[in-house]
Amino acid sequence: MLKKRKLLNFEVSDLCLGCSVLNPKNLKSFLDLGGNFLDTSPLYQDGESEKIIGKFGNRNDFIIGTKVGLDSSCSGLSTTSILKSVDNSLKRLKTDYIDILWIHVWDGTLEFACIFENLLKSGKVKAVGASNTPAWVISMYKDLFKFVQIEYNFNNRSSEFELIPMANKLNLNLVGRSIFDKGLVFNNFSFLDVSLLTLQWLKNKNILPIVRTGSKQNLIKNVNNYYKDIHPSFLSFLDKGTKPDTIIHPHNVINSVTVQRILKNIK
Ligand SMILES: NC(=O)c1ccc[n+]([C@@H]2O[C@H](COP(=O)([O-])OP(=O)(O)OC[C@H]3O[C@@H](n4cnc5c(N)ncnc54)[C@H](OP(=O)(O)O)[C@@H]3O)[C@@H](O)[C@H]2O)c1
Repeated sequence: MLKKRKLLNFEVSDLCLGCSVLNPKNLKSFLDLGGNFLDTSPLYQDGESEKIIGKFGNRNDFIIGTKVGLDSSCSGLSTTSILKSVDNSLKRLKTDYIDILWIHVWDGTLEFACIFENLLKSGKVKAVGASNTPAWVISMYKDLFKFVQIEYNFNNRSSEFELIPMANKLNLNLVGRSIFDKGLVFNNFSFLDVSLLTLQWLKNKNILPIVRTGSKQNLIKNVNNYYKDIHPSFLSFLDKGTKPDTIIHPHNVINSVTVQRILKNIK
């Protein structure tokens, strides 16, 4: 069974359910296993994912995260788009509040902060998060954003350069998505128990995993694997073994052998 933890003011399950492909059956399985934390969007199944959640039982059973910015009828982060998208989501979700409103993808503008503040004041939104948004934008609005959603898995660890250190320094809550690289890691590392290793690796880094599965059996396996313990030395071996080959600037310079040698001599 899933346990709950405090994340900001929310009591959320240790795993969040990815609702990009959702049906009432897998939502029920998640709830039966003690899950309550959901990640949806107006984009998912063209609004159907939000509708399924809205039709499903008691609103208080869930902590619902939905998104703005990639809504097929009102995309981008202009005031009009955000307001229209939020109102449409509230209708589909059959609720009068959204627990976490995520930026789905940053649109290159910087005018969104004021409208998010108003949504928080009105009570329609309880907290704001950013996904697919550069670290410099999030840190400009560090009092607004409380959550950061990152694409993070053994094949793609690029968030380690900017987003993860930023979130840790600013005390923002990290949520990891595409943790199985859309299922690809199961092929890349077929000789290992990928579910176990991925979930333990994320738990160790205090990144709350979003899991998506259409299979009840895989959901149960993921929940059980999250609570197993594997030896820390194996985790550090795994961490070293999957380090990214390409280091982005300026970290290529910071990490270079010559620079590190000179920096060591700083008094
Ligand atoms: N913010 C964003 O822009 C963004 C973008 C992408 C995704 N997301 C969120 O993240 C969620 C998941 O990400 P994702 O869709 O990229 O996929 P993912 O979580 O990386 O991979 C999902 C795949 O893993 C398989 N899987 C899960 N558990 C398994 C297990 N124990 N054994 C074998 N296979 C297993 C599933 O297959 P089965 O169904 O057969 O189990 C499914 O095909 C989405 O639903 C969405 O909520 C957010």
